[in-house]
Amino acid sequence: MKILHVVGARPNFMKVAPVLHALSQYDTVRQIIVHTGQHYDVNMSDIFFQQLGIPAPDVNLEIGSASHAQQTAQIMARFEPVVLEQKPDMVLVYGDVNSTVAATLVCAKLLIPVAHVEAGLRSGDRTMPEEINRLVTDQLADLLFTPSGDGDQNLLREGIAAEKIHCVGNVMIDTLVRLQPAVADSAVLDELHLVPGGYAVLTLHRPSNVDDDRVLGALLGAILALAERLPIVFPVHPRTRHRLERLGLGLPPEGLRLIDPLGYLDFQRLTSQARIVLTDSGGIQEETSYLGIPCLTLRTNTERPVTVAMGTNMLVGNDLDRLRTRFHAILDGDDSWDQRPPGGIPLWDGHAAERIANILCKTKFVGT
Ligand code: UD1
Repeated sequence: MKILHVVGARPNFMKVAPVLHALSQYDTVRQIIVHTGQHYDVNMSDIFFQQLGIPAPDVNLEIGSASHAQQTAQIMARFEPVVLEQKPDMVLVYGDVNSTVAATLVCAKLLIPVAHVEAGLRSGDRTMPEEINRLVTDQLADLLFTPSGDGDQNLLREGIAAEKIHCVGNVMIDTLVRLQPAVADSAVLDELHLVPGGYAVLTLHRPSNVDDDRVLGALLGAILALAERLPIVFPVHPRTRHRLERLGLGLPPEGLRLIDPLGYLDFQRLTSQARIVLTDSGGIQEETSYLGIPCLTLRTNTERPVTVAMGTNMLVGNDLDRLRTRFHAILDGDDSWDQRPPGGIPLWDGHAAERIANILCKTKFVGT
């Protein structure tokens, strides 16, 4: 049985790692890794392969950055010959990035079965490029592995056959659980002169927050005011870095500390010891919920509602007053929602990838 994994962007890497490991326990499985090259900087890609123990990709399509149409089309054009040559029995795609949808489209046309890991998530917001990628990928996939029950409900509502859907839990949490000892060894707090609980972490990269100068400027103004009370560490995504340069944010003001994107271990150490996390990332809503760290999400919606219902996530949208109020409430210790015990979400237990491997190895691979 030949399984081909497609990854391309940073959030894919922590999802593929446990699945590769779980499938390596089966003698009958041969695995191939294709990296589309959607992310290519050392600290957006290579460092994750190294720290997560992912073997070097068998093929790198070296796509790089481009508009959505160009990036998706180029991945398709370069991926098709790889599939024709490799003839996999099944292709695994991860998450909701452009690489995910591009690979799925190629396989659907070649009648190669596709399994989607992290299926069924919906924000209901089609202005998000990821929502388009999720909708298309899930319609075309032959097997859909969901992280939580809401994913199953979304898929059933969209007419996906129940027998294709498997609620397996969250593979990103598998990686977080496995690497806890290595995370604890990270020296990032000492390097940044931080003490546990003595700072907040900020991440920002959604086009809706960073691509419009007025939106980004207003958000940063509010965040700078918060940083007067608690230092905020801000590992800056390359997309955001470009926007900040355009905005002319020169020397970072006192309190807000702009740093380069971190590797997996340092980033997890930083967030796990933070007093509060402010983010517009999807995966960080999940990781903070697992760890029990209060998370204020700078978005009006989330495709991960279980993190709000059962975790420590709260949506503050683009309401800067709400951001300010919630931030101070957490510091004043008068908020109850952030007191949830860590690790309480069903199937977020470090074993999701084993369940995936088990299902894959029992599945008869026939295209739809
Ligand atoms: C992509 C995903 C998003 C995910 C995010 C995680 C899509 C549609 N978006 O967004 O879902 O949350 O990755 O990081 O797939 N750049 C670099 N170096 C890199 C990669 C990117 O400098 O290694 C810069 C380029 O200027 C590029 C910009 O960042 O134009 C954005 O990269 P891109 O991959 O288009 O989208 P992300 O914002 O990273």
